[in-house]
Amino acid sequence: MNTVDKFHNWRRKQRWNKQYKKGRWENLKGEKERARYEKIVEFTENHSNKNPDILDLGSGEGVLFDYFNPDNINAFLGMDFSSVSIKKANAVIREKATFICADLHSFKPVRNYDVIVLNEAFYYIHETKKSEVIDLIVNHLKPDGIIIVSIYREGLGCWEYFKTERFKELEFTTVKTEEEKTYWKIGVYKMA
Ligand SMILES: C[S@@+](CC[C@H](N)C(=O)[O-])C[C@H]1O[C@@H](n2cnc3c(N)ncnc32)[C@H](O)[C@@H]1O
Repeated sequence: MNTVDKFHNWRRKQRWNKQYKKGRWENLKGEKERARYEKIVEFTENHSNKNPDILDLGSGEGVLFDYFNPDNINAFLGMDFSSVSIKKANAVIREKATFICADLHSFKPVRNYDVIVLNEAFYYIHETKKSEVIDLIVNHLKPDGIIIVSIYREGLGCWEYFKTERFKELEFTTVKTEEEKTYWKIGVYKMA
């Protein structure tokens, strides 16, 4: 990213922090979003190695973790560039979970994972960095590891990165709600 892009990224981070401070994202904990998180857990159970190590990129306050049964996972790392969301995540005692503040554009995992999740996060990656982030994910997957991607509505600038020969699509679904325009597409992938 050039200097201007980095500045905009910094501005976005301030915006997210402000929104998390104001409680703007409390709705993620609500019933309307439940089916999306449950689908990610279901995909994990159906397709990942047993007792997985999970990395949640752009985890926010860690809502996804709360849908897992901690007995069924080995460890969960959530990361987000919003220090406010990470502070909120760390304010809750969650067995097996760790939350750290980091930017998706520069984050380097220190270990490999069975499951790497991009839950409503891929569209925040700068266009020039998307391929790099995908390479990083691929390089930090354990053998038979899976990638789970969830995107609101159609996910422009997302699926073309996963629906390629590089990946095998294990499942793909649309999670609908009572509101016609509120839906998510969720895919689960492994290396082809
Ligand atoms: C719509 S929220 C989703 C949060 C969480 N994945 C969930 O579904 O509960 C998007 C999250 O992406 C984070 N995010 C946006 N750009 C990011 C970046 N460059 N690096 C890390 N996190 C980022 C935001 O701070 C926010 O927490």
